Amino acid sequence: MLGMTELAPQVAKMTIEGGYRLSGEVSASGSKNGALAIMAATLLVKGEIVLHNIPHIGDVCTMIDMLHALGAKADLSADGVLVVNASTISQSEAPPDLVKKMRASVSVLGPLLARTGWARVAIPGGCDIGSRPIDFHIKGIRALGASVRNDHGVVEAQCDNLIGAKVYLDFPSAGATQQIMTAASLAQGTTVIENAASEPEVTDLASFLVQCGAKIQGAGTGTIQVEGVSHLHGTEYSIIPDRVEVGTFALAAANTRGDVFIRGALSEHNTALLQKLLEIGVAVRAEETGLCVVARRGCIATDIVTMPYPGFPTDLQQPIGAVLATADGTSIITEKVYEHRFKYLGELNRMGADTHTENRTAVIRGVPKLHGASVSACDLRAGAALVIAALAADGITEISDMEHVYRGYEQFTSKLTALGAVVRAEEVCFC
Ligand code: EPZ
Repeated sequence: MLGMTELAPQVAKMTIEGGYRLSGEVSASGSKNGALAIMAATLLVKGEIVLHNIPHIGDVCTMIDMLHALGAKADLSADGVLVVNASTISQSEAPPDLVKKMRASVSVLGPLLARTGWARVAIPGGCDIGSRPIDFHIKGIRALGASVRNDHGVVEAQCDNLIGAKVYLDFPSAGATQQIMTAASLAQGTTVIENAASEPEVTDLASFLVQCGAKIQGAGTGTIQVEGVSHLHGTEYSIIPDRVEVGTFALAAANTRGDVFIRGALSEHNTALLQKLLEIGVAVRAEETGLCVVARRGCIATDIVTMPYPGFPTDLQQPIGAVLATADGTSIITEKVYEHRFKYLGELNRMGADTHTENRTAVIRGVPKLHGASVSACDLRAGAALVIAALAADGITEISDMEHVYRGYEQFTSKLTALGAVVRAEEVCFC
């Protein structure tokens, strides 16, 4: 049977005619990063799980392929309801080609180990934005008593009984926090994760696990306590909206002097971004049903320092960089989470931007206007940044390698078109 991802035609290009102001309403999709972590955690559960608000994006498809390959049932409906049943998993080795395709696949390691006592997962390589090691993940499961070895680039972990322990993270890694939390859910005794990540996706995973019967306290703070239980049961759960997608549309509105309402946005997940929008001269209004973004004039320069949550999200560094390229004044961006997340600036310079970088710092001198060009998306958020830049540029921009973008943005073309953008690209329905 063809896997989900082979079914989908890959879009390579998007063409945008710039100069149209975005206005109207768009709905936030479910969180990519939240969905992936929870989908991996379903492997812990013997029973049926119904997940709502699952986005139809490439990465979700890859995770469905992963669940199928491990022997779980997983079916996604057209309206974003995913039914998973991992009561019987037939193996504990994650197919290397899927791990290579998507780093987040590494998050099946903890659940497989906790469920079966053995797991093999290829070490995901780095990507365009940094080396991205998994040493904290390994440190965490070792602390729970697993023996872990690197077998020619494949992590092999084994443990008859995971035992709760204290784990200190050198950096509040979202992935490592989620990995340890899932493994600890079925361990004997209590695990304490210190300097834990507090991203909303971490809190959402904890809420999902608690609904399955796990005992977790402190999610959303720097210290998480997990008291292991013998088993978890099925449940029905709805994923949080995607705060990065919300931020992307808010910045697209800002860059086109737009007036956009993002239905379903949870403003409390985007506090740092809202603060920066105000600083660059954009009006924002948080409402119960969503977020209203209104930009009546050009933006003003500001400085950005990316940090773990609740600091400014690194996943919106590239999108806001595209806005600052035509802001009034000079902006400085300091990227504190990843080593190499400025590659997109070279593409913006093709469009007439004036930027230069040194190590983890970028200097962006605002120019009055960008112009259309042929550019290429080197990763997911870089692609989103180029779309934001093209929406306000003079003339036509052609963006290639857009398949990166469809890994993480649901119905991107039709959502932009509904807001008044002039965009041409085949709409992708992944799964
Ligand atoms: C998650 O990645 C997100 N991905 C990323 O979003 C996001 O940028 C990141 O969190 C930070 O918010 C998913 O949820 C699938 P980390 P993750 O572990 O968990 C270093 C997007 O665009 N580190 O918090 O992999 C690491 O190299 C993606 O949607 C270690 O050194 O991020 C990085 O510099 C991109 N050792 C920093 O910590 C480890 O064992 C933060 O990484 C783990 C991480």
